[in-house]
Amino acid sequence: MENRQKLVINGGKRIEGEISVHGAKNSALPILSAAALAHGESVLHNVPTLTDVDAACRILTTLGCKCRKSGNTVTVEASNVTGSEIPDTLMREMRSSIVFLGALLGRTGHCRLSFPGGCELGARPIDLHISALRKMGAEINEEHGYLDCVAPDGLHGAKISLSFPSVGATENILLAAVTAKGCTEIHNAAREPEIVDLSEFLTKCGAKISGAGESVITVEGVRRLEPCEHSVSPDRIVAGTYLCAAAITHGEIILTHCDPSAMNGYLPVLEAMGAKIYTYGGGKLYMSCKRLKAPPTIRTMPYPGFPTDIQAPFTALCSLAEGTTVFVETIFENRFRHVPELIRLGASIRTEGRVCVVQGVRSLSGAKVRASELRGGAALIVAALAAEGTSEITGLEFIDRGYEAPEKAFRSLGGDIRRV
Ligand code: UD1
Repeated sequence: MENRQKLVINGGKRIEGEISVHGAKNSALPILSAAALAHGESVLHNVPTLTDVDAACRILTTLGCKCRKSGNTVTVEASNVTGSEIPDTLMREMRSSIVFLGALLGRTGHCRLSFPGGCELGARPIDLHISALRKMGAEINEEHGYLDCVAPDGLHGAKISLSFPSVGATENILLAAVTAKGCTEIHNAAREPEIVDLSEFLTKCGAKISGAGESVITVEGVRRLEPCEHSVSPDRIVAGTYLCAAAITHGEIILTHCDPSAMNGYLPVLEAMGAKIYTYGGGKLYMSCKRLKAPPTIRTMPYPGFPTDIQAPFTALCSLAEGTTVFVETIFENRFRHVPELIRLGASIRTEGRVCVVQGVRSLSGAKVRASELRGGAALIVAALAAEGTSEITGLEFIDRGYEAPEKAFRSLGGDIRRV
């Protein structure tokens, strides 16, 4: 739903201070879906307050679960999962609702959902999810824009080789495999930290999984899962966005409740750009930055490479670096939609297909800009915090999907930012 609010930012203030990183959206969503597999009440901590999390809770409620959120703790009571259809409105609201497919098939043997279709990042097909689930015994019909999936005899284990290490497909296969009959092997599995987090939750529920975080994951199906208590891991992309905001304003920041080991895809890039970074035990990281040198090339890759989700904030950062950076986006075909808005703020960027060339400029200047997707919206905040004068950012419905109260977060770090 369109959000009529906007962020008003008076740029040029240094971003400095200490901030705690909230839980990861991309961990919370599959774990909420996994909670539907556990027969009883699971308690999830460190769940971020985001519109995508609200959407996931509404899906659980439509399926017959009882979902309560109190602060950052969500309780999911899944003793009775009576529904098996994800309403079209929720599917349209959040394309990642597809991650309920594997869990529902495992729990009820049936799932009906509308075809997710394209999204703001491009076509985003789900062929890998479907072919894997078919291999595991699901019958899937695609008709009139709907996917109707049934597993009349239950799911069974299978050997699955993914042609690309898709995060969502790996999650759906895991969710389907944990209670399937027999053993499932996932080859060329996604290795993202969010896969590890989901596996940890499932393992606490009684699942038998080995190899999460590696290219081959093996799952020995069990009869049923019991509920558990789990804390969602920190959001490595939100952490990176705070770092970009501090670096672009030549600030100094301490992140707490983060996981530096999950941030290795981009921390070396920040260091090469001139940032001083120190990590401490207990999820703490210090960064200061006085001068920004442009890295020659940034190529997005599956984990452990440079994450596609932090590409947009880095294009903002490189806009004010000394030199030129070539970005190559290898994961999504349409991930430079924020670039025309950065140009409005004074950036010098040319795009050609999956490549964009950012030529650092001396200064950015405030302007009215519009977010058209989540991480692109974060890039606009980063740029506006450094731009001279006032910027207004609309399209907050995208930013609120993945950033918990960004105006409060950046205000606590010295930014002049408010939501009106
Ligand atoms: C997840 C993340 C998203 C992140 C992305 C890549 C969530 C909720 N979202 O998205 O923030 O940017 O991983 O790190 O966790 N593909 C196919 N066929 C498929 C599945 C995927 O061709 O069946 C393609 C996609 O179109 C895309 C690429 O594979 O080009 C990567 O997609 P995938 O890893 O599946 O991303 P998501 O799980 O959708």
